Amino acid sequence: MSFKLYHHLTLSIIPLITFVASFTYAQMYPFPYTSYGQLDYNFYDRSCPMLPMIVRYGVWTALKDDTRMAASLLRLHFHDCFVNGCDGSLLLDDTKDFKGEKNAGPNRNSVRGYDVIDKIKADVERACPSTVSCVDILTLAAKEAVVQSGGYQWTVLLGRRDGLTASEKAANEQLPSPFEPLGNITAKFAAKGLDFKDVVVLSGAHTIGFAQCFTFKRRLFDFKGSGNPDPTLDSSLLSSLRTTCPNVDASNTKLAPLDSATSSMFDNSYYKNLLSNSGLLESDQALMGDQRSAAMVNSYSQYPYLFNKDFGESMIKLGNIGVLTGQAGEIRKKCGFVN
Ligand code: HEM
Ligand SMILES: *[C@@H]1O[C@H](CO)[C@@H](O)[C@H](O)[C@H]1NC(C)=O
Repeated sequence: MSFKLYHHLTLSIIPLITFVASFTYAQMYPFPYTSYGQLDYNFYDRSCPMLPMIVRYGVWTALKDDTRMAASLLRLHFHDCFVNGCDGSLLLDDTKDFKGEKNAGPNRNSVRGYDVIDKIKADVERACPSTVSCVDILTLAAKEAVVQSGGYQWTVLLGRRDGLTASEKAANEQLPSPFEPLGNITAKFAAKGLDFKDVVVLSGAHTIGFAQCFTFKRRLFDFKGSGNPDPTLDSSLLSSLRTTCPNVDASNTKLAPLDSATSSMFDNSYYKNLLSNSGLLESDQALMGDQRSAAMVNSYSQYPYLFNKDFGESMIKLGNIGVLTGQAGEIRKKCGFVN
């Protein structure tokens, strides 16, 4: 069935299914939405059976207009989970007496995709009101983004609840920077329960998406005050990046692909690039400067299956960081605001 047909079917069938489902389950399970404090693959099977399809369709629609949105949704999920845990805190807008994470240094004018999640949330609310958390929608959307870009499926655990707070300060302190050494990045991951292998595997997310010139520019012209480019940068990539990012401030927000080979395909070419000195960020190429990570880069470059499998496993770990379950937090009605 084509996606167009499928779309019309989805829209017309949602109210019907919601009606039938609410009736049936209200009879069978007077308290069907109680959670027992842990994540579960089948969490919304009864309460919102259409959820996976609604998210799949919402991501598909967004990618149809903008293939980069896959990368943006994946990164949105990462930045959410790394600060206060996976609790949708990054989705909260600033208000008069509340400062959120959207305007923290690593996020402002950089993280995108909020509107896509808000739109999917509105569709989900129509089908299953006040049932599915924003953070679970974001977690499912990140997986869909990878799969629809050519990556492998993994099974997303569900049942997270939305947080009531956010922290701009924690976002500034805890998210990794492309300018810090591998040891510092590893320490930031360890603080979230992620190990060295997770650092190497999850960095493979940079097989899709783009970075602004200011995030790697010093490699092109004046690396660490040397007056020369970074010696660990391939010379033909160097000259093409200098065209994209000329040595003037006005180029700071121009974009270059993180994976210069296949920037919209979720594949293992990120690792192949590192082997040929063609990583974009210093923090990417730094994986070759350590024996343990270089060995992993080498094997992921040879075995795409291994990379895809390990990526799914590390994404499940990422999605488990600091989750709220049971009666903690809430099911937000709109992702930008607490209820
Ligand atoms: C290991 C430490 C990491 C560092 C230092 C880092 C840094 C960066 C930077 C500087 C950008 C470009 C932002 C901009 O120009 O506005 C970026 C983009 C991106 N990052 Fe990372 N990142 C890291 C790990 C991750 C992880 C773990 C994931 C996901 C699992 C991820 C997914 C992405 C994606 C998909 C993009 C492209 C986003 C887009 O095109 O909208 N990154 N990252
Ligand atoms: C790396 O971490 C150390 C210790 O926390 C810190 O002093 C240093 O400034 C960090 N380096 C960078 C470049 O952020």
